[in-house]
Amino acid sequence: MSSLKRSPHDFVFKQELGNGSYSRVYKAVDKGEPQRVYAVKVCSKRHIINENKVKYVTIEKNTLNLLARAHHPGIVKLHYTFHDEENLYFVLDFAAGGELLALLHRVGRFSEIWARHFIAQLIDTTEFIHSQGVIHRDLKPENVLLHRDGRLMVTDFGTATNVNRDNGDKGASFVGTAEYVSPELLLYNQCEFASDVWALGCMLYQFVQGSPPFRGENELQTFEKIVSLEYPWANNTTGGVVALVRRILTLDPSDRPTLSAIKQDKWFESVDWRNRELLWRGIWQ
Ligand code: ADE
Repeated sequence: MSSLKRSPHDFVFKQELGNGSYSRVYKAVDKGEPQRVYAVKVCSKRHIINENKVKYVTIEKNTLNLLARAHHPGIVKLHYTFHDEENLYFVLDFAAGGELLALLHRVGRFSEIWARHFIAQLIDTTEFIHSQGVIHRDLKPENVLLHRDGRLMVTDFGTATNVNRDNGDKGASFVGTAEYVSPELLLYNQCEFASDVWALGCMLYQFVQGSPPFRGENELQTFEKIVSLEYPWANNTTGGVVALVRRILTLDPSDRPTLSAIKQDKWFESVDWRNRELLWRGIWQ
């Protein structure tokens, strides 16, 4: 993070990349360095205050600042923050490939080779996020962006929680997205590192099947399916990935495998976890 204070006038804003309830993300270039492309998240102060989102925006800024220091390749980096009368601005890494969900929708489902490559990166990144005391709490393919060369970057830390800080949030109110929410949150209002592991299990299923495991006609039906562990297996997925998803999707978080146990699963036999460079370069070589 540069100590130089930046302002919206330092950037040329281009097309909109996405929007949420109180923010819009734009592609932008630095006027002083036009070859540098960023994604700038613009949050309306009026909306943040009206919709009681001050806490979430503060958490997002603090978490991204904390994580940016380590330069992990799997996390969108926060370069600058500033504000004017109307808005708060987060200047982030630009991920040219957009949301992983859009790619999944375009291709239907991923081959096991691709699913393994993507989920291995997400396991590596989530392990790092957890090592910093942070639980993401909303891991899903919309919050994973595609960078160059098939590298993934996790974004949207607005609902994260830091177990090392008392941020007025004990990590237990319903945040996140119905399809990926863990049974412990639904049943006991409990959220822990293992809840992110649950979401990764849902994502692995979705990668090979095309849609998430638990999906009802409304949120209540989805929640009922989650707590009764009711999900179908369609398509001819091989036994290895089916067994791994079954291992991860356990109702009791204390029975759920940790990320380091998951890395030892037979399905990941071909992955060299110690070789970061190879893990992230993946199958392009
Ligand atoms: N959409 C949302 N955030 C983005 C980012 N950082 N890069 C590209 N597209 C995005």
